[in-house]
Amino acid sequence: MTKHIARTLVTTALPYANGPVHLGHLAGVYLPADIYVRYKRMKGEDIIHIGGSDEHGVPITITAEKEGISPQDVVDRYHRMNRDAFSRCGISFDYYGRTSSSVHHETAREFFLEIENKKIFNRKTEQQFYDATAGRFLSDRYVTGTCPICGNQEANGDQCEQCGTHLSPTELLNPKSKLSDATPELRETMHWYFPLGRFQNALEAYVETHRDEWRSNVVNYTRTWLNQGLNDRAITRDLGWGIELPISDPEAKGKVLYVWFDAVLGYISFTREWASLRGDKDLWRSYWQDPESRVVHFIGKDNVVFHTLMFPAILMAWNEGRQEGIYNLADNVPASEFMNFEGRKFSKSRNYAVYLGEFLEKFPADALRYSIAMNYPENKDTDFSWTDFQNRTNGELADTLGNFVKRSIDFTLARFDGLVPWDYCKESLNTVFLDGQIDDIAQHYEHFHFREAVSCTMDIARAANRFLTQNEPWKVIKSDRDAAARIMSAALNLCRSLSILFYPIIPDTCDRIHSMLGFEGQIGDLIRQGDSIWDQAKMPGLLKGHKLKGSSEILFRKIEDADIEPELKKIEQLLAEAEKREAGAAVERTFFKPVISFDDFQKVDLRAATVISAEKVKKAAKLLKLQLRVGSETRQVLAGIAEHYSPDELTGRQVVLVANLAERTLRGEVSQGMILAVEGADGRLLVLEPSIEAINGSQIQ
Ligand code: 2FM
Ligand code: ZN
Repeated sequence: MTKHIARTLVTTALPYANGPVHLGHLAGVYLPADIYVRYKRMKGEDIIHIGGSDEHGVPITITAEKEGISPQDVVDRYHRMNRDAFSRCGISFDYYGRTSSSVHHETAREFFLEIENKKIFNRKTEQQFYDATAGRFLSDRYVTGTCPICGNQEANGDQCEQCGTHLSPTELLNPKSKLSDATPELRETMHWYFPLGRFQNALEAYVETHRDEWRSNVVNYTRTWLNQGLNDRAITRDLGWGIELPISDPEAKGKVLYVWFDAVLGYISFTREWASLRGDKDLWRSYWQDPESRVVHFIGKDNVVFHTLMFPAILMAWNEGRQEGIYNLADNVPASEFMNFEGRKFSKSRNYAVYLGEFLEKFPADALRYSIAMNYPENKDTDFSWTDFQNRTNGELADTLGNFVKRSIDFTLARFDGLVPWDYCKESLNTVFLDGQIDDIAQHYEHFHFREAVSCTMDIARAANRFLTQNEPWKVIKSDRDAAARIMSAALNLCRSLSILFYPIIPDTCDRIHSMLGFEGQIGDLIRQGDSIWDQAKMPGLLKGHKLKGSSEILFRKIEDADIEPELKKIEQLLAEAEKREAGAAVERTFFKPVISFDDFQKVDLRAATVISAEKVKKAAKLLKLQLRVGSETRQVLAGIAEHYSPDELTGRQVVLVANLAERTLRGEVSQGMILAVEGADGRLLVLEPSIEAINGSQIQ
């Protein structure tokens, strides 16, 4: 039996207030969420959209230090910038909060204390770098040093930018503190850990109940984690920016909550803030704690486990042993794949991005919304390009929808005094579209199939445009005014239906159609809970004698080649810069390492090997433990590729093994060799494979 849904809370991933949001963010998270929420509001449902800025974390403090400003200045700047860009793009948040707010700090501390008091956290002591000059423990990014793999002297404590290797700070040679340049010393420190494994069974059961509704990528990715067994996760960091622990324990001094622990709770804090603003401070509870409500998290694929495992586990910990104040777990987590741009992954750090705010200075939001919705990366990565944007705007929005609406209105103004000339019946409307088509679009929205929904909506616009062209009222009127009046009444009613059907996708344009049709106010003003204006698109809504506004406007200006030429040039430039950087990095590496003799090279024993099994290494997020078959031998190798490959992806693959490398022990595990990998264009580390099926164990020469 399907559960009765009284209300829906939609959340969107909180972007870090450390840079401007780009079109990739919009495509994967904010636009689909907005389209969904607008559609549901039109259906008369009770739904709210909560989002905001993620204002904690190391990247923010590092930006602040680089620019010589405070972290608060950094987050103030980007919070405002992103909130404004979203608003100009028509993303209709009910509330856009920020995690630096006092309500959020209070909420996060409340959660920490509840879990602490229930003795659910583990405390663990570990060795960590300490800067004695600055008097601070250093989290990964605050340590720099020489990469043990490529010799880059400016490798970060979590990754070497030059060779892409993922590192931990203690692996760096000559480590230095970014705070003072001093050589840090290892000292013992204590951290709080959330025991994810304690919730393994409950999480498995939770995911299982949703396996048929959730997207397969979300279920599979989550299951990969569950199958490997969940480990403890540190939820504190040594940092001066974030939410301080609400306990007086001396061990807690200088520690803040890990940004991910606090960020997901932002969804709750912001709903609280929204409720207070509405003057009903407990209203948030009905969205989070009424079993008849449902929560839907829109996110990108890189955030899946935080929303399908971590956040649910935090809520389970809170709910444990309670009779009231029990939180609902997410009902769905529609995670997107990535939308690439001109064939490449967006990358802020590589400066390969088109930022939303900048885009909207040159082109209208609705044209962007439409093109991006048609490229929604539901099951696979998609690509957005300037020419696709131009073609869709000109061919679909301007020539089809815009042209149809303008022709209908102009002809009525010119030949029927701007009055709807005939009473129009539903049967005639059905000659252009059937109710079933509108129900199909609704079903696409209900199941988060945005591309299909948008494309079916455009099909109706195409049919309407065809209707007008084929019926030729401009000819018919010469011999039969009544027949022309019937055609025009049909066309005007179609304009009205389209203004409703397109509203989730291009709301500003639909408001303009609404106004040209002679209605006061905006379409949003018609929305009432319990009343579906969506279904009114099936019915004629303009009676004979209804007065149009009296003027028409061009809905979409065509995008000329000259408009996008500078953008294409910019892309060329960005690509050339990226290539130069990549080539530069390669050249630098070539010269970086001292020349070796042929004999020295001959000492390296490279072998074709096959991965028999792969698994994650406990307490080492970046390492995979591989068992390799090399000829008749089995070797265990630890590779720093866990963030680039799931264990399943590697099993059965051939790899290139440095077979005579001295054994090393990493995280208590022996590594008997090394496998070769290279950084791909999108920053992913790619394991090298012999290009032909090599004989297992054979030497590479
Ligand atoms: O990946 C990110 O940009 C994170 N700031 C998303 C956080 S989502 C949620 F937890 F708030
Ligand atoms: Zn390196």
